[in-house]
Amino acid sequence: MNRTINAFDPAVIHAGNRGLDIDHDSVAAQVQKLLANMSLEQQIFEIHGWQAAPIDGLFYAGGNDELGIPSYRMVDGPRGARVGKATAFPVAIARAATFDVELERRVGLAIGLEVAANGGNVLLAPTLNLLRHPGWGRAQETYSEDSFHTGAMAVAFVSGAQNHVLTSPKHFAANNLENTRFDMSANADQRTLHELYLPHFRRVIQEAAAASVMSSYNKINGVYCSEDPLLLTDILRNQWGFKGFVESDWYLGTRSTAAALKAGLDIEMPAAYRRSPENLNAALESGEISEQDIRTAASRALYQKLAWNLADLPVPGRSVIECAEHVSLAREAAEKSIVLLKNEQQILPLSDQSDIRIAVVGDMAELVNLGDRGSSLVVPSSSTSPLDGLRSRAEHAEICYFSSDADFSNLAEFSVAVIVSGLTYKDEGEFIPTAQIEAEESQLARGGDRADLKLPAAQLDLIARVTSIAPRTVLVLEGGSAIQTDEWLDTVDGLVMAWYPGREGGHAIARVLFGDVNPSGRLPVSFPKSTKQLMDWDTTALDVAHDLLHGYRYLDFHQLEPRFPFGFGLSYSTFTIDDLQLLRHDAGFRISVEVGNVGSVDGATVVQVYVSANGSAVFRVPRELKHFARVDLASGERARVEFDIGDPDLCFYNADAQAFELEACGYQFQVGFSSRDLPLISDWKFGGDTWQQA
Ligand code: BGC
Repeated sequence: MNRTINAFDPAVIHAGNRGLDIDHDSVAAQVQKLLANMSLEQQIFEIHGWQAAPIDGLFYAGGNDELGIPSYRMVDGPRGARVGKATAFPVAIARAATFDVELERRVGLAIGLEVAANGGNVLLAPTLNLLRHPGWGRAQETYSEDSFHTGAMAVAFVSGAQNHVLTSPKHFAANNLENTRFDMSANADQRTLHELYLPHFRRVIQEAAAASVMSSYNKINGVYCSEDPLLLTDILRNQWGFKGFVESDWYLGTRSTAAALKAGLDIEMPAAYRRSPENLNAALESGEISEQDIRTAASRALYQKLAWNLADLPVPGRSVIECAEHVSLAREAAEKSIVLLKNEQQILPLSDQSDIRIAVVGDMAELVNLGDRGSSLVVPSSSTSPLDGLRSRAEHAEICYFSSDADFSNLAEFSVAVIVSGLTYKDEGEFIPTAQIEAEESQLARGGDRADLKLPAAQLDLIARVTSIAPRTVLVLEGGSAIQTDEWLDTVDGLVMAWYPGREGGHAIARVLFGDVNPSGRLPVSFPKSTKQLMDWDTTALDVAHDLLHGYRYLDFHQLEPRFPFGFGLSYSTFTIDDLQLLRHDAGFRISVEVGNVGSVDGATVVQVYVSANGSAVFRVPRELKHFARVDLASGERARVEFDIGDPDLCFYNADAQAFELEACGYQFQVGFSSRDLPLISDWKFGGDTWQQA
């Protein structure tokens, strides 16, 4: 009997999430009782942060010792705790490439624990903005170009982290252009918002009970998100049932006193700028706001403090920070995130024999490349570069290092050249364009959007010089999103995408290259041949039209063949997939397939389920990811993988009815190993009442 694997087991993912264990009626009553004894001034203190700069790494909001009200103590961020020294995990998009929700839950647990050990009680993560264009500067902080995939990973992270602290998923919403983030407007119709840009936020709230939400800097349809009643009240609270607090993004995140308060922005961070006593008094006097508006925001700010019993939240000992378990988790995540993109004549894995000479080339081989230096910066107490990782792994093979400006003339004598290339915080990241601090190591520094997806000229030059001499080349790419490979892909024999792999990245890269680990990462973002295959992209734009087409949806619709499709990744093993079965039940489908590892080494693959609607009366994109599962299989092993797809997953958003609607039309289920490798299909028809297999 083969093993059966459940694609997403809620009992596992949500275990220990404190947010799911709240008696809401009782909390609501406690909040009203507490508020009844609070002066207006005391209420106001609950609805803004204390000061611009963090105190010992923590941003404080609210709190009153006399009344026994604890403060929120907030800490970034998406790849580890940004306070003191902490475990630097691979960036979120790397973890997304694992397609491993259970692993992402454990990463959330670990980051939450390290935040708590530092005295924090709110984690300013995850970032779950859709990767609309791979040039987005903060691509590395988020999960994916796909909403379902983003939602599944983010739900797992939130439920893990909320074992220990509250989370603040961000940035709500449609924050996907960096350089103009403070002013740009994402213009989209309600269908696009509800189907693409919002569902992953809905999931972290409804499935994982995320305790708070951070509003984004940008506007949607001309209205700043931090003062948009449609977003912060109608959708978030009335439609989704959110009970936590909305906090603003930092410094420029609150744009008004009255409009933001009335729209549903509960806490201004990191300090009272718009909510200074003068501003609030003026708004009260002019009648723009009432005391009740302040009371409402204060009640929401207080809600989670009582719901979570915040004053008594356990504070673990500091020994958990960068503990052995977290370091090995960082390595596991990095190993599972690496995507093998090309492996001509099986140049990989490298063999570790005494007659093998490996030239490791490029300055980036010596660099610990953890990602951008914006708010998600994490400082580990130690870390490993690719070169160190390869040196410590190779027992018999000879490793020789060549810096980028070395003399390459004897590269021809080596068995293989391993080039480490890609991007750094100078090329992409949260945009903090401060020339002066840029020079200071490990300080916040410039990032921003990429205007195109090419490697920097110096890297292209390095690759050209090495590949013209070395007989065989493996390229290890680092970066936070898609990189254009077309200028040089034919000149290299092997290519792996290692992202920003965290403190253990060097070891992970070495273990994948030497075959101790069979690569199993899959692309969470399509790699186009060039930007010509993508929508227009202007990093200075202030008005950006958003629609249902981007990423693989765009490529599929325009029938463009990307260089590497969404969901793609190679392995040192070979996997088979067959015996698709669909079982219709009251509320949806139970789908299952058999997967086998017919290769000679153990490995893992990612099974993906896409659905196309056929004969629909409204526009539908060609196909959409509706489920996935990472499956570990020993050599020769087979397993049955099960997916649950509910009817709500098949709906489109009917803007007229302001509701999701299951349309009577055909539905094709497609199952396989990437968005462009879907060998198993099953056609069904929904007649309005009943389903039939076509
Ligand atoms: C970023 C947020 C971050 C906040 C606090 C902002 O500039 O956009 O993601 O959580 O700063 O550091």
